[in-house]
Amino acid sequence: MKKLGVNIDHVATIRNARGSNHPNPLLIAKHVSKCGADSVTIHLREDRRHINDQDVLEICKDRKIITNLEISLNDEIVKIALKNKPNYICIVPEKRKEITTEGGLNLNKNRTKIKKVISLFNKANIRTSLFIDPNLKDIQSAKELNADCVEIHTGKISDLIKKNKDYKKELIKIKKCSKFGKNFGLEIHAGHGLDYKTTAILTKIKEITEFNIGHFIIGESVTHGLKKTIKSFRKIINK
Ligand code: PXP
Repeated sequence: MKKLGVNIDHVATIRNARGSNHPNPLLIAKHVSKCGADSVTIHLREDRRHINDQDVLEICKDRKIITNLEISLNDEIVKIALKNKPNYICIVPEKRKEITTEGGLNLNKNRTKIKKVISLFNKANIRTSLFIDPNLKDIQSAKELNADCVEIHTGKISDLIKKNKDYKKELIKIKKCSKFGKNFGLEIHAGHGLDYKTTAILTKIKEITEFNIGHFIIGESVTHGLKKTIKSFRKIINK
């Protein structure tokens, strides 16, 4: 069975729009878990534009929720992650002005730091993933850096599919990386920009065992509800 992680950052975005505590990310995290998500993803950004420190504390404290915390390599954020002990960590690059995570990590530039941070999470028994663009060199680096998993950035292929452009080259790249990574003993995940159509295409790659999806699920839930939307995705990923 392939796994589905649901990113609820945008629930916090809606909450923050009114400066109140509704909708409440903790309640939604519990609800999302009940609706069949295998894990709940939250991204504590350096500018705290959606999820905040209190959300991280409350969601990670509820051990019934399997929490996947996305973080940058910022020292303060790494400290918060270690203190709250989520089940999973996904290390992502972060730029202040970006609307969302724009590309994968630069594993070459940040090698020493990433290795050190991964070893801290390994010691704390936290499954650690690196968010990377689909290229073989980064897959090999992820293994050398002792990551447990890689999450392949699917933003580019999602964009091509949505714009009805030729996506075959990108799909081949993702397939090659998935096989290569699996052979290295890495867990292969995929995320970013996914909707029903893009997920249906990518789930044919058998090495991909987990999808992390946020914006589309929250958007679709306005019309169809979280339960129905999560159920539809679970069906697609295990077809
Ligand atoms: N995976 C990672 C590493 C991300 O940074 C994001 C965006 O926060 C997602 C998955 C989810 O992307 P989307 O909201 O486009 O589904």
